[in-house]
Formats: sequence, structure tokens, C-alpha cells
Amino acid sequence: MIKLAPSILAADFNVLGEQIKIIEGAGVQYLHIDVMDGNYVPSISFGTPVIKSIRKNSKLIFDVHLMVDEPIRLLEDFKEAGADIITVHAEACKDLTATIEKIKNMGLRIGVSLNPETGLEILDNVIKDIDMVLIMSVEPGAGGQAFIPSTLQKIKDLKEKVNKAGITMDIEVDGGITPDNVMEVLEAGANIIVSGTSVFRGDIQKNIDLYNEQFEQYKRKYNI
Ligand code: DX5
Ligand code: ZN
Repeated sequence: MIKLAPSILAADFNVLGEQIKIIEGAGVQYLHIDVMDGNYVPSISFGTPVIKSIRKNSKLIFDVHLMVDEPIRLLEDFKEAGADIITVHAEACKDLTATIEKIKNMGLRIGVSLNPETGLEILDNVIKDIDMVLIMSVEPGAGGQAFIPSTLQKIKDLKEKVNKAGITMDIEVDGGITPDNVMEVLEAGANIIVSGTSVFRGDIQKNIDLYNEQFEQYKRKYNI
């Protein structure tokens, strides 16, 4: 199932609740929440108090992307704040297997994210234990960057790996996606599309409509 996951990093925090309502009203199911610690990535975004506040008024699936060092320390806090999916960076975990196990034992869905320069082989021992892989198509740490084209081959390679392993999993892609390049990302094998700037800049409803048009076009083209 193709899904759009708007990233609130690009939202206007002065009216965050109102903007989330527009997204929810447009039929979107996921909300992508970028947490940055100023250490794993240079900038700091926001943490559990923001997630807790928006959780009160939203039924969206909270897709929490932790760009933090040693996320294993903080998993309970993010569960308590309202995360449905927790995605950790493979590069940020000393013990990736233990981190995955802990998230699963908490009853949450688990994603593992890879930076542009991180190879897919890091997934070899864990691919059967996770629900989603998040492929970064920009360097993590900031919204509004340009999509790195070599990501498309990486998504294709991941899709092949997943098929070979005989499993199904979500492939999420994050960074620099717009309604103009999303078709290529879908065709490479992604099914969850993160988008910050291209959803929140301008008219949110219209921007979501543009994505939905592309999703419909893709479905018609491939008869799904
Ligand atoms: C980057 C974040 C992204 C970012 C995407 O570190 O993980 O989720 O907000 O924003 P755009 O769509 O503006 O590239
Ligand atoms: Zn993200």
C-alpha cells in the first residue's frame, strides 16, 4: 500500500495542530516525526513534549524517526509519548539487534534507517526482524535538501533483497521528494513516501492532492 508520510519538520509550529488537522482531513494516515539530538546530526528539532501534545488530538500513525545516538536509551519515552512506529539509524546503534528486540517487545513497529553512504549489508542479520527500512535520500539533519539520485538504485537493490528473503516489508524513503520525482521513487520499489517541504510549503491540501494524483497514476500504470 502506497502511503504519504508528511514530515512535520517543515510545518509551521505556531499552528502545528491546525496543519495536522488538514493532513488528517485529507485522508493521510501517517505522520512522520523527525527527532534530532544535535549529536547524531548537527541540529536539534524537538522531542517527546511535542509528540505528547499532538498525540492528544490526532489518530494518525505516528512514524517517529529518531536521528539520535544510542536510541535504545530513549525508547520507553517515545512509546509513552505516542509513537506507533519507531525508526532508528543503524549507524547510531552500538547493538542494533538489541535495539530492535526492545522496540518489538514494547509492541511497536520497528524501522531501521540507513544514511546515503550506508550499504544494505548492514541489514543482513536483521532484515527478517523489522517492519520497515527507511532509506535516506538526503543526508539526515535538515529538510529542504535535493534528492540524491543514486538512492533510486539503492531502493531497487533493497527491493530485490527483500524479495529474495521471501518477506514483505515497507520501504520508506525520506528527503527531497516532490510530486515531480515521486513516480521514480515508487517505481524503484518504495511504498512509504516522506515529504516535508513539498507538503507544508504553500497550500497543504493542494500539495497532498498532487501526491495523490501521482499515486493514482502509478496504480493505473501497474494495475494495482
Ligand atoms: C531529514 C528528515 C526528513 C526531512 C524531509 O533529516 O529526516 O524527514 O524533514 O524533508 P524534505 O521533504 O523537505 O526533504
Ligand atoms: Zn525523517
